Amino acid sequence: MKSSFLYFTLFLTAVIFGCQPEAKQEVIIMEQDPHSFSKPSDARVTHLNWKAKVDFTTKTIEAVASWNITAAESSKAIIFDTKELSIEKVTLNDSEPADYSAGETNHLLGKSLTVSIKPDTKTVNIFYKTNPGAEALQWLLPQQTAGKEHPFLFTQSQAILARSWVPCQDSPSIRFTYDAEVTVPSDLLALMSASNPQEKNESGIYRFTMKQPIPSYLLALTVGDVKFNAISPRSGVYTEPSLIDTATWEFEDLEKMIDGAEQLYGDYRWDRYDVIVLPPSFPFGGMENPRLTFATPTILAGDRSLTSLIAHELAHSWSGNLVTNATWNDFWLNEGFTVYFEHRIMEKLYGKDYAEMLALLNLQGLQQTISDMKAANTYSDTKLKLNLQSRNPDEGVTDIAYNKGYFFLRSIEEKHGRDKFDTFVKDYFNENAFKAMNTEGFLNYIKRYYQRKFNIQLDNSHLNAWIFSEGLPADCPQPVSTRFEKVSQFIQAWKTFGKLDPSETKEWTTHEWLHFLKNLPDSLSQSNMKALDEFGNFTKSGNSEILTAWLTMAIQYNYTQAYSRLESFLINTGRRKFLNPLYNELIKTESGKKIARDIYKRARPNYHFVATNTFDKFLN
Ligand code: BES
Ligand code: ZN
Repeated sequence: MKSSFLYFTLFLTAVIFGCQPEAKQEVIIMEQDPHSFSKPSDARVTHLNWKAKVDFTTKTIEAVASWNITAAESSKAIIFDTKELSIEKVTLNDSEPADYSAGETNHLLGKSLTVSIKPDTKTVNIFYKTNPGAEALQWLLPQQTAGKEHPFLFTQSQAILARSWVPCQDSPSIRFTYDAEVTVPSDLLALMSASNPQEKNESGIYRFTMKQPIPSYLLALTVGDVKFNAISPRSGVYTEPSLIDTATWEFEDLEKMIDGAEQLYGDYRWDRYDVIVLPPSFPFGGMENPRLTFATPTILAGDRSLTSLIAHELAHSWSGNLVTNATWNDFWLNEGFTVYFEHRIMEKLYGKDYAEMLALLNLQGLQQTISDMKAANTYSDTKLKLNLQSRNPDEGVTDIAYNKGYFFLRSIEEKHGRDKFDTFVKDYFNENAFKAMNTEGFLNYIKRYYQRKFNIQLDNSHLNAWIFSEGLPADCPQPVSTRFEKVSQFIQAWKTFGKLDPSETKEWTTHEWLHFLKNLPDSLSQSNMKALDEFGNFTKSGNSEILTAWLTMAIQYNYTQAYSRLESFLINTGRRKFLNPLYNELIKTESGKKIARDIYKRARPNYHFVATNTFDKFLN
């Protein structure tokens, strides 16, 4: 892999756009993606035709991936990424037999599949079967679903797991359109990151098209007993039948979010926007699969308080899905931009006070993460531009990409004004739509843009401090929240007078409660914990964010009254963001370690690979 890093491809992109008087040439130097075997400058895919049969009894998918390709004249082969796929045969065009070979297995990247091609090769057909342990796929038994009657399947392709269910050029810089025909048991509905059915049919055969080009990490499939409910003409929600009314209520503002997002940064380019609420083992809060966000059921708080998560996944329809990080080293371009956009959507819908609470919670989390990373000797990963060569891209999924990325963009907004920044962002999305972008390309673009459009020279030392330096720059924006100031006063009153007056907290939102729990004094007694619990009823909270913050404290202060709730939460939730702080707090003591291992043993069968891959290292 080392030598391939030296291999550079020059993309000469002539960006011509109607509203600008001059046609300009952008030269983006694309480095070789360290997480893909493919060599797109030799030969790359343009369209996928996927025909598949989903078999719950063997936990496998049997499929043919027919790839349309385009190749340089001199190219003799095309290279795909695969991971634990059983390749049955490969043909070219209609059915010409093809020469192909598999590379050596790499624990992280899987295996390359090199297929010889000829000048007239238009299509490469790969006949294959997935492995029951395919890392992207989670096969759920009926008892792991809400309805308890039908099995369920979902995929999680980001970052480099698509190759475990579709042989593909698994790099975010390579885009393709797709069609699919998927056969599933006839009592289940299949959905993809594409045009989707809204109800089951008797044949169990479903057809899909994705006419906008996407990178492989946005390939997605889910199969289960789900129902659809419309929220607006272009949006709706899918869930298991028993959750459909709850979810419809929770997402009532979905259309307002789409509309608000469009007003900020331009048209929604993917036609429909639907959300599917998955069973609780889904390892993330949300995943921005185009046209169909995958979401955790822990978002259903019953009071619409956690819907910024939907704003986040929706925002990815611009940042990430439209303009895509070129490699996982540029992950902050996906997530930092998305957090920024998410906050702008929330501000537009619910006001500045609301958005500033989110920002302040994020800043506190970020400061904590940075000091933890210093202690853990991973401080060099606090740069926005990462170096994930020979490492799992998962190691880049930290608060840095999300929240340092967010505050960096906000710092430019604050320095030169919101109007200018908004004009920039809108043009940035439009001019780079359906393209990959790396950090250096972004810097070039924004510098040239501010120069040309506003005659402003952006300060290089400011940009470098944020992007190529460790830690949090001193000029980090400081959110202001009067609502949080009141919470701090409330904490102060408790500290000095032991006062916890419920009449003062009647109007508190989830975010105020979170700020409260995260800013309590550093050491609490058993009777303090008991008093807090009686006052806030935290152990019984149905709000997963509040519950996680509380249970983390319960472990810290050995408040064992909450342990049975802790155990059932760890066993029944697969969302890594919640599992992480809880298991990490537990393993700080010897007795906690024992409890953690014991619970993990029982919980592990419920978790998706991306969760077990994180926790096996220290709990198995
Ligand atoms: N795309 C991410 C999830 C992801 C990142 C999956 C990297 C695999 C690798 C998604 O948009 C996300 O950020 N989800 C967050 C939600 C949030 C920040 C509101 C999550 O799951 O917690
Ligand atoms: Zn995201």
